[in-house]
Amino acid sequence: MSILRQLNVRLPIVQAPMAGTSTPQMAAAVSNAGGLGSIALGAGDASAAQEAIRRVRQLTDKAFNVNLFVHRPAVSEPDVCRNWIDHLRPTFESLDAQPPESLKEIYKTFDGYQDMLDILLANQLPLVSFHFGLPSPEFIAALKSKGTKLFASVTSLEEAKQAEEAGIDCLVAQGYEAGGHRGVFDDKGADDQLSTFALVQLLVAHSSLPVIAAGGIMTGQGIRAVLGLGAIAAQLGTAFVLTSESAADEAYRAAMRSTAARHTVMTAAISGRPARCLANKFTSLPVVGRIPDYPLTYDIGKALNAAAKAKGDGGYGAQWAGQGAPLAREMSCEDLIKTLEREMGA
Ligand SMILES: Cc1cc2nc3c(=O)[nH]c(=O)nc-3n(C[C@H](O)[C@H](O)[C@H](O)COP(=O)(O)O)c2cc1C
Repeated sequence: MSILRQLNVRLPIVQAPMAGTSTPQMAAAVSNAGGLGSIALGAGDASAAQEAIRRVRQLTDKAFNVNLFVHRPAVSEPDVCRNWIDHLRPTFESLDAQPPESLKEIYKTFDGYQDMLDILLANQLPLVSFHFGLPSPEFIAALKSKGTKLFASVTSLEEAKQAEEAGIDCLVAQGYEAGGHRGVFDDKGADDQLSTFALVQLLVAHSSLPVIAAGGIMTGQGIRAVLGLGAIAAQLGTAFVLTSESAADEAYRAAMRSTAARHTVMTAAISGRPARCLANKFTSLPVVGRIPDYPLTYDIGKALNAAAKAKGDGGYGAQWAGQGAPLAREMSCEDLIKTLEREMGA
């Protein structure tokens, strides 16, 4: 039986976890409509995680995905951080603001985060997924001992092999066209920038694990296409950004609705890790010198967005979106799932 069937998920549609944009309401609505909803816990602490899980469980008794970031802890190089702060200082000053004095590690990696593991274990979750890498064998064994299924984002055959050897149950094949952070395990290493189309075929041919396709999939026809390549499901993120349950702010929504949605760029300048974003004022700033590690860069990236928003300028937000952004639809999650299902059958 396929892993989604084991989780009692009727449709081959996974709503991507989207830190800052997906919500417990979105996850519950998607799972209630027959897909697999997700919550993203990578940008919060253990108590925020407990609250998000409690909220989804209030709204659905169906399975949902709980997603964690497993990045390498940041190495803070004082010179690199100082130069980056100075590089952005004139932009802050143009907004009548000052940059922060120093850069903080605003997100803790899941690996070694015992309080977060304890919350996941206490909640007896059906499914947990990882982005940016894999946690330790001890953390994986602890989750598996509760019967929790494990998914991991991968962008290459090498990462897929590591996931398989670590005991992951299902691969999320993230192509280069995908919105949001690229799931590469080593963000300083070489990246072949494989497309969803190529990566799914490679993983289906060379891995024994089931594959979920992610990146650039916006319609039921797109979902059907990746199922035709051998994927068991499609994971869609950008398609959910404009839904009523999304936490996207007004500037992000306005950009998604406009011709700005036609232009996305992969940049590490907002958070410190490569991520695909709508081209905006932030992405058009020149990159000078070295970018500090993730998530130190994100600390000042968020401060810059806050300074701009205080002046009524939404052009410095992390408006994550994939190459399919112009196809995002404004409707409820339930209607989007019904629409995708209808298009798949058409
Ligand atoms: C706004 C946004 C936020 C994202 N945040 C996360 C996240 O927290 N965790 C994660 O595993 N993937 C995250 N992703 C990536 C998705 O899991 C997925 O790979 C991607 O959305 C697929 O491409 P698409 O956006 O073209 O559908 C995010 C994507 C977007 C668009």
